[in-house]
Amino acid sequence: MKRRHVLEFEDLPSFPSWLRACVTNNIVVFARLIGIPEVLGDLVAKTLKQQKLTQIVDLGSGSGGVMPDVLAHLRGSPGLEQAELTMTDLYPNPDAMERYSDGPAHYKRESVDATDLAQAPAGLKTMVNSFHHLRPEQARAVLSSAVDSKQPILIYEMADNTMPFWLWVLSLPIGLSITGAMSFFMSLKVRPLSFNQLFFTFCVPLIPIFYAWDGQASMPRIYGLEDLDELLEGLERPDYTWEKGQAKNKTGQGIYLVGLPT
Ligand SMILES: C[S@@+](CC[C@H](N)C(=O)[O-])C[C@H]1O[C@@H](n2cnc3c(N)ncnc32)[C@H](O)[C@@H]1O
Repeated sequence: MKRRHVLEFEDLPSFPSWLRACVTNNIVVFARLIGIPEVLGDLVAKTLKQQKLTQIVDLGSGSGGVMPDVLAHLRGSPGLEQAELTMTDLYPNPDAMERYSDGPAHYKRESVDATDLAQAPAGLKTMVNSFHHLRPEQARAVLSSAVDSKQPILIYEMADNTMPFWLWVLSLPIGLSITGAMSFFMSLKVRPLSFNQLFFTFCVPLIPIFYAWDGQASMPRIYGLEDLDELLEGLERPDYTWEKGQAKNKTGQGIYLVGLPT
């Protein structure tokens, strides 16, 4: 397997949740800039229509990520005006629960384990930029659980993992500098803009440091298309199909894996 499990600070249980939320805010701003809500929204729309569903259950939602933007995009598409989103996590995020307590996008208080989908609410399961946080045995458990419980699932990562690991290591100084510098701009675009977001970007630059490191570290952790083949070995069934590929539109991109009961 090409994937390498490089340390991401936000995975550490001791990493403060407010700082994790601030770093995620920057990821959402970046995702909007490069058209992720549109490219992912088109993929989700196609899958919902194929399965005749309007409910989305996002797994590993963290502090929300880009899925509320995707829902807004979907509700603007013919036939999906009634689409609803339930965000879930193994460790539900208290701030996100408060922010999304009502309306078509809401956050579930109870823990949902992506490796046990029989227990998850009904609807299309999505995992957005969260699959690379799982080690191979957990990642495979998610896929196997989708097949066993015949749940439709769409996994999306906003980048592919094509760079050789040695080149990733060599390019780290430049990668970290560019990503860190971008973080100053991203923080200014966060809405609503909190004191923490500004203070820990411009006065004590913890957000640019962790955004830069975790952003770079996530690249070798992504399961590329060949790694996905390896994870899927033995999970091909007559009553369940898998499709994977590159997602692309004018600005957005990424890779996806869709599993559907037939
Ligand atoms: C990077 S974070 C959130 C990514 C989020 N989707 C986004 O776009 O910002 C990954 C999340 O996966 C959650 N997670 C880890 N293992 C999980 C599991 N087995 N089931 C559900 N969520 C899990 C973590 O608690 C964490 O909040």
